[in-house]
Amino acid sequence: MIVLGIESSCDETGVALYDTQHGLLAHALHSQIAMHQEYGGVVPELASRDHVRRALPLLRQTLEQAQISKEQIDAIAYTQGPGLAGALLVGSSVACGLALALGKPVIGIHHLEGHLLSPLLASEPPDFPFIALLVSGGHTQLMRVDGIAEYQLLGETVDDAAGEAFDKSAKLLGLDYPGGPAISRLAVTGDASIHQFPRPMLHSKDLNFSFSGLKTAVLTAVKKYPEALSDSDKANVARGFVDAIIDVLVAKCLTALKQSGLKRLVIAGGVGANQQLRTALNGAGVKKRFKVYYPELEFCTDNGAMIAFAGAMRLQKNPSLATYDYSFNVKPRWPLSEINDS
Ligand code: KG4
Ligand code: ZN
Repeated sequence: MIVLGIESSCDETGVALYDTQHGLLAHALHSQIAMHQEYGGVVPELASRDHVRRALPLLRQTLEQAQISKEQIDAIAYTQGPGLAGALLVGSSVACGLALALGKPVIGIHHLEGHLLSPLLASEPPDFPFIALLVSGGHTQLMRVDGIAEYQLLGETVDDAAGEAFDKSAKLLGLDYPGGPAISRLAVTGDASIHQFPRPMLHSKDLNFSFSGLKTAVLTAVKKYPEALSDSDKANVARGFVDAIIDVLVAKCLTALKQSGLKRLVIAGGVGANQQLRTALNGAGVKKRFKVYYPELEFCTDNGAMIAFAGAMRLQKNPSLATYDYSFNVKPRWPLSEINDS
């Protein structure tokens, strides 16, 4: 079965073709980061318009790369939510319009399910069950994953998401959007002994997170400098921030593994690309004897491959999910717990 996947929930247009027999056939991506950078964050209306411009050229590119015709597609998966309403509408309408024209079925996919399953696209995929830490720009969740469509929420952020904390703290340091990669790079040269930022909810014993206080601590630290921060001041603040957030993320993963008795940890979402997080988790894994799995770096952030893959897995498990009803609706807010297999 060949599934076309279309992702357009935020600022990346992603298109991919996944074949259940031969794996990922092709994928193409357009990131809008450069367009949004001058505004310091994503401008929803600009995002929607750009998805309109990009979707069909990317689709053609993907088909060409895979050397198949659109008639060979068996089903179309698209991100139905959560995300920006206008942006989601573009991908959904392209998917449903194309499916209608081709007479093929569609399936709406939850964006986080895409992230959650993305490590299964890697060359060494984990077996079920596993604990997943989902860390993206909009979400921070710990889940227990027993199989496709078998997801149990164990804990989540009560305020800002981890990626949001990275982005907001980076902005306070005058770094460009998206700040995650930039603040991490800067942190490498920082002195860890200068700023001791709080580790929110580190000892709360549950699996929830809170990051808004950490962002405020960064703001307070920045304001304490009488003059503009030098590059090394910025690096020191960055280091304090990164050390604090990584400590919390790692500690909560360890608690989830301990409570569940599982030995496999999967990291998904944009923050999963973070090198400090990977180093800390790999170190903990060696010490505590668990294995950590990551998506390929290019599939950490938003992409079409994870949507095509999630669509293929869902349809393979339950073919009756394929619908020929093209009256789509998007779900800007959509808890993953609402996913079921019927
Ligand atoms: O998963 P994603 O592409 O989009 C959402 O679904 O939200 O995640 C984007 C987030 C942004 O907040 C970005 O700053 C963060 O992931 N991010 C990183 C890194 N790369 C992306 N955060 C820390 N370190 C990175 N290397
Ligand atoms: Zn995402």
